[in-house]
Amino acid sequence: MTSHCLSLEDLSKDDMLYLINLSQEIKQKLEKGEEYKPLKGAILGMIFEKSSTRTRLSFEVGMKRLGGDAVFLSTRDIQLGRGETIEDTARVISRYVDVVMIRTFEHSRIELFAKYSSVPVINALTDLLHPCQVLADLFTIREKLGSVEDVKVAYVGDGNNMANSWLIAAGVMGFDLSIATSKDCAINGFILNRAKDLAKNSGANIIVIEDPVEAVKGADVIYTDVWASMGQEEQREKKHVLLKPYQVNKELIKHAKDNFIFMHCLPAHRGEEVTADVIDSEHSVVWDEAENRMYAQLAVIMKLIGRDR
Ligand code: CP
Ligand code: NVA
Repeated sequence: MTSHCLSLEDLSKDDMLYLINLSQEIKQKLEKGEEYKPLKGAILGMIFEKSSTRTRLSFEVGMKRLGGDAVFLSTRDIQLGRGETIEDTARVISRYVDVVMIRTFEHSRIELFAKYSSVPVINALTDLLHPCQVLADLFTIREKLGSVEDVKVAYVGDGNNMANSWLIAAGVMGFDLSIATSKDCAINGFILNRAKDLAKNSGANIIVIEDPVEAVKGADVIYTDVWASMGQEEQREKKHVLLKPYQVNKELIKHAKDNFIFMHCLPAHRGEEVTADVIDSEHSVVWDEAENRMYAQLAVIMKLIGRDR
């Protein structure tokens, strides 16, 4: 594992399995109410350039539960929002805290921050990737299905930061991934090529197609996400037309395995990318998935700052 966590490509398959095991250990200890404070005295800086419910809460509450603390920094309030450079912001913030998480727009912003930060930096979502979400999702899949290697994941919907993160995860871990999206909501070509390169080693079978039924056939996991991501609001109407055939509904799920699980990073829009009778069904694991964000991110922080031993 490198000194930052900007992409799941920063992790090896062994790192991912290690972090999943550590997530499980943290969850068990917290559920049992054990005195467990491995992050005592550690402080996380949290820079948000976009909105958040789950990411903010899971990082902030998680730090406090394990004995550390967190400082919320919105670009509406800090000088970064008034033109102080990313380089200077990184140099300064990293003098005060032990680890930083950032939610921002262009991926190059977090890469630049990481270059000038003297402490580890974690990607809490960029326009390109959302690695913490997929790490928590892999933990949830293992919890529910017993494996993260011998599964078929079907991602149905927009070719966005979640789709990209699934591609990299499959490339590293070696599970099968079918993505169904409109050719006009195309997947990032660079990410797809990286995933296919990684798959040569891991054995992942990665398919990107237009037919959602074909993608979902025999799937253990059906995953979807909003049709218009944060920062893409002006594309909302266009995406709604293009992605209408990609709604996860009662008809589509008939093609998955009988015991498939439905996942969504949330926030969800019932009646758009998923119908209420799917997200609120017994197949849906979205609430456990949201909870697991906390354990997975704590595992990443513990590993990055050497508190996991
Ligand atoms: N899934 C996720 O990252 O949710 P928030 O946008 O609420 O943080
Ligand atoms: N693709 C979505 C994910 C939200 C967690 C977005 O970027 O808005």
